Amino acid sequence: MDEHGWNERYRGAREAGQDAGLWATQPHQQLREIAGRLSLGTAVDLATGDGRNAIWLADRGWDVTAVDFSAEGLDIARERAEANGLSIDWRLGDANQWAPGREFDLVTITYLHLDEAANIAVIRRASQWVSPGGTLLVIGHDKENLTRGTGGPPDETLLYSPEMLRAATPLKVVAAERIVRNTSTDPEGPQDTGTTAIDTLLHAVND
Ligand SMILES: C[S@@+](CC[C@H](N)C(=O)[O-])C[C@H]1O[C@@H](n2cnc3c(N)ncnc32)[C@H](O)[C@@H]1O
Repeated sequence: MDEHGWNERYRGAREAGQDAGLWATQPHQQLREIAGRLSLGTAVDLATGDGRNAIWLADRGWDVTAVDFSAEGLDIARERAEANGLSIDWRLGDANQWAPGREFDLVTITYLHLDEAANIAVIRRASQWVSPGGTLLVIGHDKENLTRGTGGPPDETLLYSPEMLRAATPLKVVAAERIVRNTSTDPEGPQDTGTTAIDTLLHAVND
């Protein structure tokens, strides 16, 4: 889906009165656990959507940059952050091209599903933004989610696997694995209830 399609989705959520936006208000449990153990520093959240990762990180004290190609998504994210008194450097940009021109202590990407070549290229480029000692976290829907899980794009070519994510980064891989997510306690969106989803997690460090 291009930026116009995503803008429509975010506009639709706003018109439907979903003040919290399209996605959950808390980041993925694994992101909270891993990032929660790190020393505070600079972070960039690529494909931030309506900002749940960026807002959570900023609330903890991270200095956050957040990027998405949907202006409507960023508007919701900015409003949510400002309502919580949080300052985040919001950037409108296409993940296929956007370049920060600097490094970050933490790079996060959650549920960005491009075609396989583009997914790999984006993760490879984002790996270069991780400062020495820094961390890369990528989480998305796994290919097995099609048969064993709920949510996500119904197209295998857009989905992740541990092998694909491991091969996409030149960084030292701490974990590249399938994880089962309980959508009641760890939803992707506000409507998720009572089922499980299969995600892929990549945790890598610039050692
Ligand atoms: C499923 S949402 C995930 C949002 C957020 N990361 C989260 O987990 O709540 C996917 C997001 O990726 C963004 N996106 C998709 N393709 C993109 C691209 N090429 N460049 C930048 N953002 C993109 C969409 O606008 C959307 O906000």
